[in-house]
Amino acid sequence: MSQITTVPTAPIQGQKPGTSGLRKKTAVFMGRHYLENFVQSIFDVVECQGKTFVLGGDGRYFNDRAAQVILRMAAANGAARMIVGQGAILSTPAASHLIRLNRTDGGIIMSASHNPGGPDEDFGVKFNMPNGGPAPEAVTEAMYRRTLELAEYRVLEAQDVDLSRPGRHRLGGMVVDVVDPVADYAALMEGLFDFAAIRALFAGGFRMRMDSMCAVTGPYAVEIMENRLGAAKGTCVNATPLPDFGGMHPDPNPTWARALMEEMFSPDAPDFGAASDGDGDRNMVVGRGIYVSPSDSLAVLAANVHLAPGYAGGLKGVARSMPTSAAADRVAAALGIPAYETPTGWKFFGNLLDAGKATICGEESFGTGSDHVREKDGLWAVLMWLNILAARGQPVAAILREHWQRFGRNYYSRHDFEAIEPARAEALMAALRASLPGLPGRVVEGLEIAEADDFAYTDPVDGSVSERQGVRVMFRDGSRIVYRLSGTGTEGATLRVYLERYAPGPEGLALDPQEALAPVIRAAHGLAGIAAHTGRENPDVVT
Ligand code: G6P
Ligand code: ZN
Repeated sequence: MSQITTVPTAPIQGQKPGTSGLRKKTAVFMGRHYLENFVQSIFDVVECQGKTFVLGGDGRYFNDRAAQVILRMAAANGAARMIVGQGAILSTPAASHLIRLNRTDGGIIMSASHNPGGPDEDFGVKFNMPNGGPAPEAVTEAMYRRTLELAEYRVLEAQDVDLSRPGRHRLGGMVVDVVDPVADYAALMEGLFDFAAIRALFAGGFRMRMDSMCAVTGPYAVEIMENRLGAAKGTCVNATPLPDFGGMHPDPNPTWARALMEEMFSPDAPDFGAASDGDGDRNMVVGRGIYVSPSDSLAVLAANVHLAPGYAGGLKGVARSMPTSAAADRVAAALGIPAYETPTGWKFFGNLLDAGKATICGEESFGTGSDHVREKDGLWAVLMWLNILAARGQPVAAILREHWQRFGRNYYSRHDFEAIEPARAEALMAALRASLPGLPGRVVEGLEIAEADDFAYTDPVDGSVSERQGVRVMFRDGSRIVYRLSGTGTEGATLRVYLERYAPGPEGLALDPQEALAPVIRAAHGLAGIAAHTGRENPDVVT
């Protein structure tokens, strides 16, 4: 008979969830009581007794052991049932789907998303709500407050549960159902997309490269692309999830998915390339010789989504995060549907999706998704592109060119300055905020500032207000600069500078974005005094 132990503990400072859950260095998470304190705080806030939760993670180092701890604590806290991905593996979108499919009381996802994994890298834990989406701020705040008063946690004394194959187990009074992490998700995708058309595309010789970056989407990609859609064997690379992601930085952007970029710009490039991140919610898509910015990807999907059977009825609305370019807004205007602008963080889309105000959403940070789950979904976006490519019978480059001809082009880029000393980053933002009242009317680099503010958002569904979400400088000609500090890093501060310029066409639609944005980039440096504050002239990452 297994026994419940109540372990005395003391609050640990700094267990405050960021943009997407609590993320820390793995060693911190493995420290005495660290994981346990946070998990107990989750269970206290969501009232664990009698509930059912989904559990899984992206397979990074400590994923397997953390899962066993969480299971023992769930049992000790009176949970009725846990649905766990085989091997403690679930991609974030698959976890969101399982929460919804099984009508559970939520789920715990172990991931630090696109941050590297391993003993010296990052680990993370987040809680998702019964709707399948990340916990809103009010809930994560309550969990944080709980961490500050915690005096004990409960854990069952028991052996590890065998998570190596599907099946039902008992842990104390709790049922543990180990499930195939891929099956339900793959079935969901089959229901949304025209698999027959995509199969025909591959059968006709269409070549693709899918880079899972040694992270969680590998098994999903192999099953869906190669087994079900008939893509050639070997289409999916880096498809085995590894605890350290093979030393890769599993963030699908042109900097970190360099091998894919090089292949897509080589003479023998395949027709289509894609990559996904650590936990499978992010995506990058690339055509032969052409990179698709996430903001453009959202706009192209919005304009073409009706080609997929699951969206044949059209869209209720489109939502994007504030720093994402306005390209999708132009499509929404043409379609006569609402466009929403939310703060950074997928959780802000949840209410819009639940209320049926938006059908698809996207962020510049390589996130795209729809109301099929309540997380962004990397493979969903890739499959949507495949569906569109199959239906239109055109290459990616032609689809983008036609899109810009019709809607104009929002040249866009993000420049990241990483691992800045936090005090310096805060000083830069404070100075920017202080300068806001004097900005309208000023001319920088030949561009006149029309408006400048610190973005605040009132949720149209529940009326909640989120302030200080990023400094925006809007120019008379439609150009825009946004500055904000990342909420997902674990080391120092990351300054993100988002740059945008609109070209209505028909001329000037084929420039290199960095060239097209040159005056905006110079203005961004000048207005914020980036070099003076941070000592940095050049960004570490350019997307
Ligand atoms: C995570 C969230 C996204 C967010 C992104 C960037 O991936 O799920 O919704 O856009 O982080 O956050 P950051 O605060 O680092 O810019
Ligand atoms: Zn992610």
